[in-house]
Amino acid sequence: MDAKTEELRSAHDVLAEFYVERMAGAMDRMPVDRAMLGLFCDLTLAAGVGREVGDIGSGTGHLAPVLAARGVSPRGFDLSPGMVKVARRDYPDFPFEEADLRALPLADASLAGVVCWYSLIFLAPADRPVAFGELARVVKPGGYLATGFKDGDGRLRRGGRSAGLGVEYDGYWLSAAEMEAHLTDAGFAIVFRGSRPPDADESTPQGYLIARRM
Ligand SMILES: C[S@@+](CC[C@H](N)C(=O)[O-])C[C@H]1O[C@@H](n2cnc3c(N)ncnc32)[C@H](O)[C@@H]1O
Repeated sequence: MDAKTEELRSAHDVLAEFYVERMAGAMDRMPVDRAMLGLFCDLTLAAGVGREVGDIGSGTGHLAPVLAARGVSPRGFDLSPGMVKVARRDYPDFPFEEADLRALPLADASLAGVVCWYSLIFLAPADRPVAFGELARVVKPGGYLATGFKDGDGRLRRGGRSAGLGVEYDGYWLSAAEMEAHLTDAGFAIVFRGSRPPDADESTPQGYLIARRM
């Protein structure tokens, strides 16, 4: 594992319990995120390509019950063993495993869809073609991808400081146009674009894209 990946992974191990507290009940306060995920689930089920979806960069696992309530079967993957541990503890009814989204332990065209909620924003520019290609590889033709992200200018940021836990890692706030370009280059067609202004505790607008695997 390279030094940047190790930094990101170990930072999220340290952040795991902090995120458990921060994300508790978060989806109840985020109607736009809920609606976006609901639309993703409806589109995926309507496509008739199955129910199993990957929650890629699943973090504390709190999206699993939200997705399951909309009829799909989520399966979480996260780089950080600490995140996987809290997700398994707090959401024991759902499967979570350690994996890097740049090399998913999944067969080609094995999922009906993937959700990447604030997990693609850590990809260094050089890693993006492989990562988006990997997402396209595991989704069945006709299946869907949904992503939520911080809509920004693509510049490198150092994240983690706000938690006050002494960890830092690289992040990139991508513009919607950049995110779209990566998705279309990988073999997805955009079917929905969304955006909302920042909430009081957010520094950027939030972007949302849903795309169909061609
Ligand atoms: C900001 S958290 C979001 C977690 C969750 N999706 C949510 O919305 O609450 C980002 C998560 O992505 C994971 N992550 C970052 N890079 C990853 C990679 N290359 N492969 C898998 N997971 C990754 C981190 O470990 C972290 O748990």
